[in-house]
Amino acid sequence: MEIAIRPDTEAACSLVAAIIAKAVRAKPDLVLGLATGRTMERLYARLAEMHRDEGLDFSRCRTFNLDEYIGLPVEHPGSYRYYMNQNLFNHINIDPANTFLPDGMAADIKAGCAAYEDKIAGCGGIDLQLLGIGADGHIGFNEPLSALRSRTRDKTLAEPTVKVNSTLFDNPDDMPRRAITMGVGTILDARSAVLLATGKSKAGIIAQAVEGPVTSMVTASALQFHPRCRVILDEDAATELRHQDYYRWVFEQDPDWAEYRAAAQG
Ligand code: GLP
Repeated sequence: MEIAIRPDTEAACSLVAAIIAKAVRAKPDLVLGLATGRTMERLYARLAEMHRDEGLDFSRCRTFNLDEYIGLPVEHPGSYRYYMNQNLFNHINIDPANTFLPDGMAADIKAGCAAYEDKIAGCGGIDLQLLGIGADGHIGFNEPLSALRSRTRDKTLAEPTVKVNSTLFDNPDDMPRRAITMGVGTILDARSAVLLATGKSKAGIIAQAVEGPVTSMVTASALQFHPRCRVILDEDAATELRHQDYYRWVFEQDPDWAEYRAAAQG
């Protein structure tokens, strides 16, 4: 794991946008894993700006989202398809036919989950998986006790997740209690992963995920197994990390971060 602590949310989002942009430029038909949630909104706005102002080209990219609610039609404003269209896809030049989310309306959910795994494999696997983190440490919707080798499947959402995420619905009762999510194993198969977390409310769970033991009770901790995982934080989300000085030292020294350090200094 590599940790980058940036001065504020804007800088953290800009760094993740720069990582994604570099990957897209290096491989125009990149297979990009995407995430939802409030944290990603500023990042997606930044990617839309980079498309508009710098011509960042998504025309050959394929995208796979981590998860989708079960039983919400795609046109429902609470669905993740709706979120992705509103926050990203409508603002960049991606071909909508190349954007994939699990089908939460499938008549046969299990078959749909297997088909999603096949589709990812058929595209050659995910090159770069973007991740947020839930209050209970979930990645995707891999709630506590999710097997660390799990694949795409349906899950019951934990109560704290329902509490937090239902505030995004006009009518909180509309929020489904079940969702389809890539498994922890699916996520770990991505060739690289970038987790973005901002704000004080994430500080405790980030410390558990990064510095705590690997446990299915905090599925983000499984990223400690990933050979190429970067965790990008703002100062607020980093406050409970015990070894901040070490992470800052590495960020300043490591050649892999050099171009991003230079960009941050303008
Ligand atoms: C949802 C998504 C997660 C995301 C989490 C964090 O639960 N399934 O993939 O990481 O929200 O959301 P936020 O950024 O709003 O804190």
